[in-house]
Amino acid sequence: MRLFLDTADIEEIREINRWGVLSGVTTNPSLVAREGQDPDIVWKEILETVPGDISLETTATEADAMYEQGLELAQKAPNAVVKVPMTAEGLACGKRLVGDDIKINVTLVFSPAQAILAAEIGAYIVSPFLGRLDDVASDGMGMLRVITEIYEVQGYDTNVLAASLRSPMHVVESALAGADIATMPFDVFAKLVKHPLTDLGLERFLADWQTLQNDLKGEA
Ligand code: E4P
Repeated sequence: MRLFLDTADIEEIREINRWGVLSGVTTNPSLVAREGQDPDIVWKEILETVPGDISLETTATEADAMYEQGLELAQKAPNAVVKVPMTAEGLACGKRLVGDDIKINVTLVFSPAQAILAAEIGAYIVSPFLGRLDDVASDGMGMLRVITEIYEVQGYDTNVLAASLRSPMHVVESALAGADIATMPFDVFAKLVKHPLTDLGLERFLADWQTLQNDLKGEA
């Protein structure tokens, strides 16, 4: 399962990229707006920093306008993936972009039925939002499991990207469910690496090592 960061913050992206585990980035209009800068500058920096798939989202709501926007976004870099919403207009636009050999990510997916539609237009990525479904007392992980099973049974090539993840266990369970990609905010990435026994173990190793150094110095 490839790990993506869900952010437009270049410092967060640089930090996780430094760990050697970052395979891509997902952005959305809210995340880009949070940066308070010209989106073109924000996207350019991300596209140049991470060589993997970078999702850039359209904001037009009508298929023709969305398609023109999608063409522009796709031209920004070879690793740009155009995000379109799971709406009738998004599907119509996405189908045309796929026809132009442009990689698309169908976003705001909240049901297996919607995920089938995304696969049928030949989307490169489908993004089911787990956390937001949990927020309305539904079963986000259950939805993901059904989608991965349907894709397996049907032989769909579309990559399933588990989105709107809120905790390390969301990441672990997404991997178990067979997601191809998991995207998460910086704080979830930071929690993935942490375990109190790792910290404790390292502290003990270093203390024992220091004791040996002191003993050897004493003997000299
Ligand atoms: C994915 O592409 C979305 O940007 C993202 O996962 C949404 O997550 P949120 O529900 O935490 O905003």
